[in-house]
Amino acid sequence: MSNRRVFLQQSAALSIPLIVSPRVFGADAPSRRINVGFIGTGNQGMGLLKRFIARDLGNVLAVCDVNEGSFGYKKPDHFYGREPAMKMVNAAAAKKTKGGTSNLCKSYSDFRDVLKRDDIDALIIVVPDHWHRIISVMALEASKDVYCEKPLTFSVSDGRKMIEAVRKNNRVFQTGSQERSNPVSQFVCEAVKAGKIGQVKKIVTKVGFNNKVSPKPGWKPMPAPQTFDYRTWLGPAPDSPYHKDRCLYRFRFHYDYSGGQITNFGAHCNDMAHWGMAMDHGGPTEIECEGAGFLPEGSLFNTATETRFRCKYENGVELFCESGSEMVQTRFEGTDGWMVTGYRGTYASNRELLDGCPTKPTGVDDPHSAHMANFIDCVKSREETRAPVETGHASAVLCHIANAMIRLYPETGPGHVAKWDALAETFINNDAANKMLVREERDPWS
Ligand SMILES: NC(=O)c1ccc[n+]([C@@H]2O[C@H](COP(=O)([O-])OP(=O)(O)OC[C@H]3O[C@@H](n4cnc5c(N)ncnc54)[C@H](O)[C@@H]3O)[C@@H](O)[C@H]2O)c1
Repeated sequence: MSNRRVFLQQSAALSIPLIVSPRVFGADAPSRRINVGFIGTGNQGMGLLKRFIARDLGNVLAVCDVNEGSFGYKKPDHFYGREPAMKMVNAAAAKKTKGGTSNLCKSYSDFRDVLKRDDIDALIIVVPDHWHRIISVMALEASKDVYCEKPLTFSVSDGRKMIEAVRKNNRVFQTGSQERSNPVSQFVCEAVKAGKIGQVKKIVTKVGFNNKVSPKPGWKPMPAPQTFDYRTWLGPAPDSPYHKDRCLYRFRFHYDYSGGQITNFGAHCNDMAHWGMAMDHGGPTEIECEGAGFLPEGSLFNTATETRFRCKYENGVELFCESGSEMVQTRFEGTDGWMVTGYRGTYASNRELLDGCPTKPTGVDDPHSAHMANFIDCVKSREETRAPVETGHASAVLCHIANAMIRLYPETGPGHVAKWDALAETFINNDAANKMLVREERDPWS
């Protein structure tokens, strides 16, 4: 570990004030600024990178992506990848120098080269879900602190391995569940937790429908662009022919890399559900899929296009999660009222419940920026972040077991209630459901 990082950590542990003299260790002194690398500079990675720069949270020394640079992301005008990312970082740094140039940030195509750098304290990992655990665990083992996007994991067992790696290596970890840094979500979830709507009885969460159209059955493979390392993009996932709609942004609609909107938006709304009922480290005791629709066999996308599942917790709360036009929404119903929060707004059964509710900040204070700022603060103080690894794991587990039931639905139909042992993290006497939790990984990544 670099001397610089040892110094930062020891100072925090011994509570030695880092600000010895404003000139030597002032707020902007190099010793107080955290050096980071971004792994994955696509749709969300570029968004986070822009915010990181705008809020001046630290030095971005490295950006890494298997894509050199291209269109083809979420929106047609997005040109993303490692080269545009590096240019953006260096252009922002150049503005601060007298000479007007900077090459502080280097670009990488292999994340392992970033891990080798001793001068990098922390990584912001923004790659598709099938890579989250692998890159995070390798980074934690290399003594980096980690911010990893939601859904934290690709499988239930991933989460256990990530928790072990965080705790064994004594690292700071933030799950990219930025609602935890949204003052509106904080207000609602903390109010519900404090009993403001009485005893919670029911929670209804909403996830959006697929927002991209799948290539239809009979789609034809394409040659991968030379500027895109498709083999590494696939990594541990099954070997499959390239198609442009398999990878950038759209990977979330294929079970080989993600879990559809149940893990995409579900990681937010179900995380808030856990938060409001003080279930950050727990899970349900039973779960059932009540309906699921899929595209015709042979379509490129294979995740459920619309669905509804129900589960029950030990405290008696029933949670229903369903597809809807709201992308992310959580509705808490209690014995004395209800509260709703989500991307479309915040409401309550009576106005007093929202007295003192803040408005959602924008710009450099928006939840994404605030969430990264919380991570960087914790990297310096060595305190626990707002969304520690255990919390991200528990929310992801709910989404994964829901997807297991959803994927079985075409065979089982309605009424297949599975019992879940939240402590052992396994379905009870249900081999078919347990089988759905296993993700095969190709060497050398397994
Ligand atoms: N917190 C949020 O609100 C939020 C919003 C959007 C996305 N996300 C999450 O961010 C992650 C990325 O989603 P996205 O929409 O940005 O996808 P994306 O496809 O737009 O970007 C992912 C990037 O990672 C790169 N990549 C893939 N494998 C890599 C590897 N092994 N090494 C280096 N780079 C690699 C891809 O080339 C791509 O540029 C997902 O887990 C997603 O759920 C979170």
